Amino acid sequence: MAIPIKNSDDIVKMRVAGKLAAEVLEIIEPHVVPGVSTGELDRLCHEHITVHQHAISASLGYHGYPKSVCISVNEVVCHGIPSDEKILKDGDIINIDVTVIKDGFHGDTSKMFIVGKPTILGERLCRITRESLYLAIKMVKPGIRLRTLGKAIQQFVEAENFSVVREYCGHGIGEGFHEEPQVLHYDADDGGVILQPGMAFTIEPMVNAGDYRIRTMKDGWTVKTKDRSLSAQYEHTIVVTDNGCEIMTLRSDDTLPTVITHPA
Ligand code: CO
Repeated sequence: MAIPIKNSDDIVKMRVAGKLAAEVLEIIEPHVVPGVSTGELDRLCHEHITVHQHAISASLGYHGYPKSVCISVNEVVCHGIPSDEKILKDGDIINIDVTVIKDGFHGDTSKMFIVGKPTILGERLCRITRESLYLAIKMVKPGIRLRTLGKAIQQFVEAENFSVVREYCGHGIGEGFHEEPQVLHYDADDGGVILQPGMAFTIEPMVNAGDYRIRTMKDGWTVKTKDRSLSAQYEHTIVVTDNGCEIMTLRSDDTLPTVITHPA
């Protein structure tokens, strides 16, 4: 299937949707403390999306998913379902993954939060995962092979003795939640995709402290590391520009500029 190319009107709408998704991760930050439940964090995100942003959570009801955001704690790799029974404690590392729809376009982003006092391993895993996303974003420009991004992420992560999850990838995004292309975070054949201006996609590496293999739990959603080691993930939605890329979901705690340009 062809990879959709966004026009300037589409990109304006993607900027808005991306900004709203990023804002959810900013407003939830002060609530991520020991003793709070992931169910409560989901309610706060849902209220912000619907009441304040007049937007839609793309996750709620997606293939029957029951909540507005995914919250994945410690050994949960992704798609953790928020619950009033899941109470956060000191040293937990959690990913909150938010996708909003505004004016027909999607913004998809996630980040790690460290609850209370960090552990040395938890802090390092989160930092390396964020750096792996950043290094891939900094490579994006027209003319390069998409595959080079995954290769760079894998090399960087494995040099730190962590591993990259294989089963989940980034994805094209726009009017669809998941469009072409698939964005692999390790080196594998992607059909030879070459980046072009106007392509919009997520980069969202999932990095495990131990083995890369995963297991899906009986609820059909929650994915854990097979060896129960910690897992981390960061995600941004980006659009390829004429000479680099623009990050649609940049937050105030990000240390990249919104627009990255490469000299001609
Ligand atoms: Co995504």
